Amino acid sequence: MHVFVTGASGRIAAAVIPELLAAGHTVTGLARSDQAATAVRARGADVVRGDLTDLDALTTAAREADGVIHLAFQNQEMREGDLAGAVTADLRAIEAMAAALEGSGKPFVGTAATLGLILAGFTGRLTEDDALPGGPRIDAENRVIALAGHGVRSSVVRLPPTVHSPGQYGFASALIAIARATGVAGYLGDGANRWPSAGTQDVGRLYRVALESAPAGSRLHAVAEEGIALRDLAAMIGRRLGVPAGPVAPENAERHFGFLSAFIGLDNHTSNRITRDLLGWTPTGPGLGTDLTGSPR
Ligand SMILES: NC(=O)c1ccc[n+]([C@@H]2O[C@H](COP(=O)([O-])OP(=O)(O)OC[C@H]3O[C@@H](n4cnc5c(N)ncnc54)[C@H](OP(=O)(O)O)[C@@H]3O)[C@@H](O)[C@H]2O)c1
Repeated sequence: MHVFVTGASGRIAAAVIPELLAAGHTVTGLARSDQAATAVRARGADVVRGDLTDLDALTTAAREADGVIHLAFQNQEMREGDLAGAVTADLRAIEAMAAALEGSGKPFVGTAATLGLILAGFTGRLTEDDALPGGPRIDAENRVIALAGHGVRSSVVRLPPTVHSPGQYGFASALIAIARATGVAGYLGDGANRWPSAGTQDVGRLYRVALESAPAGSRLHAVAEEGIALRDLAAMIGRRLGVPAGPVAPENAERHFGFLSAFIGLDNHTSNRITRDLLGWTPTGPGLGTDLTGSPR
């Protein structure tokens, strides 16, 4: 298959693109700068130049491909506080690619975040069958799933907040930077709330399998560890940096955690059973503790 990948210069794509190439697919990756184009070529993909807001470029690239994996997201804008703007740009990009794919039967693999559902009010152990009518990133997830009714073999991979490989840990990288700056590896309350995680290689494999065989309308969980307590995560970070782990008072949460203050207290216990059963996907990589500290928790 010839696959168009957005976010091709990003961290997740660093696993997705080699996984696709090793399986015999070819890849064209979106790149908005010379630096990104160089990174994408170094991964063995061709490049189409454009920003996520260049909707014509997205439509054309999606039309020319046999399938699309959509990973790009304005993460920097989100970290700077403009989650709404990032979410709107994401939705517009999805619409542009959908315009090229409707009625084609081609696969479109979108990206969502397990924490998004918790932020929008879901409580309990999250499964792939759980969905919400709307919310930041949830609207995009629902739009991609709805394409299944319009002749697209669409699926969505929900990512945990800490997709990790040695040196890169998703939101945990931000927690490390905060702990380094403040001298405390912090959590909120008793830190019993949990976040799921997965290794980047396992995540890359799931995107490839979803592209190849996910039934239309599948929600998938790229989750290996279902829930690591935030106090355990803080302990790992503290051990790594040689700083104490401890609670941060709720009134100091925004100052201490910055953009992460919206997420740090959320309990995001997440199942992967349906994904495993549906696609035969089994995570095999090391756990977050191993990648973070060099030894299992
Ligand atoms: N890593 C995680 O733990 C994690 C957890 C939950 C969800 N996710 C989601 O997974 C997806 C991929 O994440 P990632 O970790 O690979 O992110 P990343 O390393 O920050 O990469 C983001 C990618 O999006 C591209 N991008 C951002 N704004 C763009 C724009 N305006 N136009 C064109 N491209 C743009 C970036 O291009 P440049 O190289 O030019 O900046 C980069 O290729 C995102 O949707 C992210 O929110 C990731």
